[in-house]
Amino acid sequence: MNYDEAVKHTWAPAGGAHDGAGGGMKRERALLPSSFVQVSIDTGWHEMSQKHHWEHVYGSKASEELGWYEPRLETSLNLIQELGLAMDASIIDVGGGASTLVDDLLDAGYRSITVLDISEKALSLSRQRLGSKAELVTWRVGDMEEIDLPEGHYDLWHDRAVFHFLTGVDQQRNYRDKLLSALAPYGHFVVGTFAPEAPPTCSGLPVQRYSPEQLEATLGANLELLQHRKTLHITPGGVRQMYLYCHFRKTS
Ligand SMILES: C[S@@+](CC[C@H](N)C(=O)[O-])C[C@H]1O[C@@H](n2cnc3c(N)ncnc32)[C@H](O)[C@@H]1O
Repeated sequence: MNYDEAVKHTWAPAGGAHDGAGGGMKRERALLPSSFVQVSIDTGWHEMSQKHHWEHVYGSKASEELGWYEPRLETSLNLIQELGLAMDASIIDVGGGASTLVDDLLDAGYRSITVLDISEKALSLSRQRLGSKAELVTWRVGDMEEIDLPEGHYDLWHDRAVFHFLTGVDQQRNYRDKLLSALAPYGHFVVGTFAPEAPPTCSGLPVQRYSPEQLEATLGANLELLQHRKTLHITPGGVRQMYLYCHFRKTS
């Protein structure tokens, strides 16, 4: 099945990808199962399976050309280093894609790393890049909204540019419940999302943009916000995207 065949239904708001897309999009989105997304491509907004979208994205461009590409996830790495985790701490990078975070965590000496992503292609790119070191990592292909994760297991859950795709309240609650269940007592959550001044879409998909206060309110009780910082990311195509990074800790 090609990209266009995956399009189930089309509706076209006048302004395209960067106009905020209006309330109509939200109404439509609420009717979709969460395994579907609305994506803005040349001819307007289309619905397709999330998995198909992400496999297409990683299959059609080199990872260095993708909008969120950074050769090194500097802000995430700094925040993680500041946690002072033991080298055997359990770390999960949710929606880790083809990012080099796992390479740098391995180089730093961490030995219990899981990378989860909906795209098999993205994880295979990381595995190829790492060569024999890939065997030190647990790779999980699956949808974070549905996948079973071990309870109370992870000392750190990292997410850069993944949570912000969840624009529905139910999806956000489901993510928070999974996060709280999978985190060990007093476990850490390091998250990077688009900040309010960033564009309204990422990878052609609508995103929820957050201030620290909005993210704290969305995640609710049981997660304490300990730090936040903003970082400007410039995509390989020259688009400026302000990210918000936060460090939360489970309160018990
Ligand atoms: C914008 S990219 C960010 C990738 C990586 N975190 C980085 O910073 O380079 C979003 C990633 O989330 C993955 N993703 C999107 N929805 C997902 C889901 N429901 N479950 C698991 N992974 C998902 C995509 O395949 C993609 O790799």
